[in-house]
Amino acid sequence: MNQSNKKNLEFIVNSGVNYFLQDSPRNWFENKKKSELPDPNINAGDKKMKIDDVIKDLKDHKSNLKKTAKNLVVYYGNLNAKVMLIGEAPGRDEDEQGIPFVGRAGQLLNKMLLAINLQREDVYITNVVNWRPPDNRTPNDEEILEFLPFLQRQIDIIKPKFIFLLGGVAAKAILSTPLALGKLRGKWHEYKSLNLDESIPTIASYHPAFLLRSPQYKKHSWEDLQMLQEKLKNVS
Ligand code: URA
Repeated sequence: MNQSNKKNLEFIVNSGVNYFLQDSPRNWFENKKKSELPDPNINAGDKKMKIDDVIKDLKDHKSNLKKTAKNLVVYYGNLNAKVMLIGEAPGRDEDEQGIPFVGRAGQLLNKMLLAINLQREDVYITNVVNWRPPDNRTPNDEEILEFLPFLQRQIDIIKPKFIFLLGGVAAKAILSTPLALGKLRGKWHEYKSLNLDESIPTIASYHPAFLLRSPQYKKHSWEDLQMLQEKLKNVS
């Protein structure tokens, strides 16, 4: 069975269908309530405990950003994901809900993922900074460094096969360079952790919020996503 057939079959089974014909037509695309969604982390026992430790340490960490934010925002998605997406910092919607990428930029991110046959539940989504900076300002270098150890721990726990960096702050944090995305995108980089044997192939591309403001860059973003899709074909 090829990958896309397998995905279709998983979708059908996850939708609760274990026989083909039903008494009434099924609306495949109706929105499911959160409680009805399959839990992507059902088999992630050990990783779940370790990520919960990171969350606990983040809660205990005294950050200036915590004073003006409402909710800690750590991750959404699949702890067994092959792909880890890293954004900048929570915005207003994320701060309200405590979940990364749920506002307008998040909706565009969902579409970008769907374009390469991925759902939010297939990937692990996080940010460099875990509290919303006041007025959504860009995190400064001190704040990036303050939260970097928590991000590095998440990478070590999830051990993604690929990292996709969304925007300049994520590129700065993970690739340790202030170079502009125009110079960094379109090629593979390597992220090396002291705690992992193998380095992780990493792409830096445009942030969805930037793409909303400057849609002419979407074609480059699409090229970067296709590079990821191509690599995903060759990993089990
Ligand atoms: N922008 C980000 O970088 N992260 C979010 O979670 C939302 C918007």
